Amino acid sequence: MISTLPAWEQSRRGLHVRFSLFASLVAISSLLNAPVTSLTIQQDVNALRALQAAWGGKPSTWDFSTDPCDTLWLGVGCDDTHTRVTQLLLINQDLTGTLPSSIGDLTNLTNLDLSSNAKLGGSLPTEISNLKNLQRLFIQFCNLSGQIPTVIGNLTSLSYLGLTQNSLSGTLPDTIGFLSNLFWLDVSSNQLTGALPDSTTSPSGSGLDNLTNARHFHLENNSFSGTIPTSIFNTQMQLIHLLLHNNMLTGNIPTAVGNLIHMEIMHFDSNALNGSVPSGFSSIQNLTTLHLDNNQLGGQLPDLSNATNLQMLYLGSNNFTSAPIPSWISNLKKLFLLSMDSANLFGNISADIFSSSSNISNVTFASNSLNGTVDLSSANSRLRLVNLSNNDLAGFVNSPTTVQIILDGNPYCDNNQGQCDSLRAATPTLINASACSGSCADNYLINPKLSTTCQCSRPVVGNVDFLATKLPILEDYNLTLMEEEFASGLSQSAFMNITFLDFQVVVNTFTATHATVSIFPPNNTATWSPSDAALISYAIKNQEITYPGIGPMVCAFIGTPYDAVIIVSGLTTGAKVGIAIGVVVFVVAVVVLGLYAIRQRKRADKAEEANKPFAAWIATGEGGDANIPQLKGARWFSLEEIRKCTNNFSQSNEIGEGGYGKVYKGYLASGEKVAIKRAGTDSLQGAAEFKNEIELLSRVHHRNLVGLIGFCFEEGEQMLVYEFMPNGTLRESLSGTTGIQMNWERRLSLAMSSARGIAYLHTEANPPIIHRDIKSSNILLDDKLVAKVADFGLSKVAPTDDGVAPLSTQVKGTLGYLDPDYFMTNRLTEKSDVYSFGVVLLELMTGRLPIQGGKYVVREMRVALAQEGMAQGVKSMVDPELKEYPLEALEKLVELALACVEDSPESRPTMAEVIKEIESLSEVTSAKPEFQGNNEYSQEDKLAYMQQNLGSPFDYSGSYTAFYGNVQPK
Ligand SMILES: *[C@@H]1O[C@H](CO)[C@@H](O)[C@H](O)[C@H]1NC(C)=O
Ligand SMILES: *[C@@H]1O[C@H](CO)[C@@H](O)[C@H](O)[C@H]1NC(C)=O
Ligand SMILES: *[C@@H]1O[C@H](CO)[C@@H](O)[C@H](O)[C@H]1NC(C)=O
Repeated sequence: MISTLPAWEQSRRGLHVRFSLFASLVAISSLLNAPVTSLTIQQDVNALRALQAAWGGKPSTWDFSTDPCDTLWLGVGCDDTHTRVTQLLLINQDLTGTLPSSIGDLTNLTNLDLSSNAKLGGSLPTEISNLKNLQRLFIQFCNLSGQIPTVIGNLTSLSYLGLTQNSLSGTLPDTIGFLSNLFWLDVSSNQLTGALPDSTTSPSGSGLDNLTNARHFHLENNSFSGTIPTSIFNTQMQLIHLLLHNNMLTGNIPTAVGNLIHMEIMHFDSNALNGSVPSGFSSIQNLTTLHLDNNQLGGQLPDLSNATNLQMLYLGSNNFTSAPIPSWISNLKKLFLLSMDSANLFGNISADIFSSSSNISNVTFASNSLNGTVDLSSANSRLRLVNLSNNDLAGFVNSPTTVQIILDGNPYCDNNQGQCDSLRAATPTLINASACSGSCADNYLINPKLSTTCQCSRPVVGNVDFLATKLPILEDYNLTLMEEEFASGLSQSAFMNITFLDFQVVVNTFTATHATVSIFPPNNTATWSPSDAALISYAIKNQEITYPGIGPMVCAFIGTPYDAVIIVSGLTTGAKVGIAIGVVVFVVAVVVLGLYAIRQRKRADKAEEANKPFAAWIATGEGGDANIPQLKGARWFSLEEIRKCTNNFSQSNEIGEGGYGKVYKGYLASGEKVAIKRAGTDSLQGAAEFKNEIELLSRVHHRNLVGLIGFCFEEGEQMLVYEFMPNGTLRESLSGTTGIQMNWERRLSLAMSSARGIAYLHTEANPPIIHRDIKSSNILLDDKLVAKVADFGLSKVAPTDDGVAPLSTQVKGTLGYLDPDYFMTNRLTEKSDVYSFGVVLLELMTGRLPIQGGKYVVREMRVALAQEGMAQGVKSMVDPELKEYPLEALEKLVELALACVEDSPESRPTMAEVIKEIESLSEVTSAKPEFQGNNEYSQEDKLAYMQQNLGSPFDYSGSYTAFYGNVQPK
């Protein structure tokens, strides 16, 4: 359809009209290379300026001579266009002062988290109601005071509202009921007063009962009064946690309590509730934790025999009718904590309660009227604490030494004080103490579980308040359980692809409801990367993780902040927690990665630093800017993690082997399948080179390039983690091993998509990249049989216009695809890739390997055409597997391939021209505008062309959105 000769043909024939045919194309290319002009809008910049001023100059790294969205400021996340601030995450940043009204100017904010800034005070400004797009608002562990403004009801996009641990006062506004998308409501541990808002009585006709999408009501530790609104026990509610403890609530527990069929944790304790316990609790199948203690509940002890999932049950300190220990207790096989102090119990203690068929660990029946003899001889091995103090027990037999038994205040001890003392003294240790001596730098600790190495490393440390456990004593068993749960909970977090091993989690506890949790970095690693530290904090703090045994908690992080920039990006799909609880929680953006501030200026690496380029990065940023890998979207994996996901590099996980080393498949903790390239000992690069490589790779994102997910650099290992490509290589398909039908259309489409990938590297990557090893085994097929170019392991940064040409010291590439000009002159340009791609095209058409039976496909094709003429020559060379093809198109493709393998690089087309030609060969292209001559095309046509052929310059893909747009203008 192209009537004139292609440009390379003209140039080859000495016509001095080079590229004239592609004038428009050239114009478009320059358009593509135009500077990214998007800048954060002034309104947002001004708002950030006002915030910094109000926060005592913090964050001090915000530099108003740069652009917040373009230079990725600390804690600032932006939208795709890089003009609006959408996320502001400044957790534990030592912010002071107040939240100024200008926060309301950041009208595109979706996620605001200022938690753990203990000096951030003042009240919530009413202007916060301007943030109509806000989906997550977390200001926890700060010093906010005053009322929650009624205009909070305007934030109708809100799904998370977390204001725990401030000094907020006044009532909870009834307008809260307008937040129909609210999933998480936490205003606990404030000084809120008044009645819980109820639509049936409130002026606005809305209340908590309207929050039918909410799963969490955390209202505890306030001074709420009045009765519990019956309206919230309507069948529309989805609640799983209802935490009302430590308030001043009165009246009955509504009989409709059984309507909340999804309930898992209910706290009614420490209020002034009265009346009898409704039978509804017993029908809530998923109820694991029930606290009714410390009220004035009366009548019969409730029959909970059908609540068979109960793990923790607290019934003590009420006014229940005097009764024996209920027999149904031994039916609750999952129960591990039973607390019935001051519950008016009398009679014997059945040994069944402690039997080996039960799971019980902690039992407390203190201050009752129990009598007879306690027999623990058949106690289950998990039993740790039995508190029977202040009863009428006269006898005691046989207890395992692992159990602490408190018998004080019983007649038995009158005669056996010595034994009672020793039984009580069997207190297990509560502290994970290190056997190592010596001290560590600030924030660094010796992991007590690694006392063989005695190395200091920096854990993420949090102070935890447990909401659903109120263990009378936390001892060994519970610590281990908790540590295991933290490790597995964090490993399953949707935010991170990190596997946490049990030894990395150390819990120490001082009272029944508080503990410190230290999450140590993997073995042999001194500290978490700031990004991982931020993610760990975020995951624990915001309860993205559920812990079946230890229940929900609030966590305040302590220690000097990790000096991290948190960069924010798009939606994480498959957010596991959300799915597990059956509601799509992560409607919007979540924190994906925290990265270092990316500086543009580079410094010459000092030789010394070059040996340990990761040190500065793994450490907390003191090492200077030059050594900080400029990663965009790729993350660090620990060796441990890689081992786990490849079955310790088992043979069954091997999927290939190349010059670089072996390739393994593996599944990340998230379930995502990946391909892991592990450098063989011969391929190991210097650390500085490896760093350069991952920086380069992580910057490149295009739908026709295999995406880098991350890397591992530990214990002398160098590994790259890529997205998994299920349909193998182009080479495999051509040799028939994949069973993929390689008809004409498929071959053309694979040629097209791989050409686009390469063209992207040449013209849109910044800096432009020369692949240097284009070959059919580096072109992979995804699940939709779209070709993606892989393996930039040998890539080089292309020479730039301002003449900074990289001098390659050593010719690299694969024999058969290698550009002879590059081989001879050592001069590397994009045209070397064009050459290799020409060989791939010939391969696609002939099915032959470039060098097969001692014959070079390029030469064979040229000879065939010279001897037999175009049509015959092509027919004699064509892949016998290619049964049907349009001869004319095939001829054109051969011409194109031969143009690509011209001896002189200048005579070869550019990849953009290659794309254009392939495009013209596929039938569908006839309808598209042709860019010929000097015709003027509309901007729309050009954009359409760009999108179809080159990928839009703003071709954001998935979660890389935020990083992608950071391509810097030249
Ligand atoms: C809240 O729920 C009540 C009862 O279903 C209803 O009458 C009222 O209109 C709702 N209010 C809002 C704001 O949705
Ligand atoms: C009970 O929990 C299970 C497991 O989490 C869940 O699949 C089920 O939907 C829950 N039942 C109700 C009624 O919420
Ligand atoms: C427990 O469930 C059984 C079977 O559904 C029922 O007959 C019984 O009344 C229930 N017991 C209580 C106390 O709810």
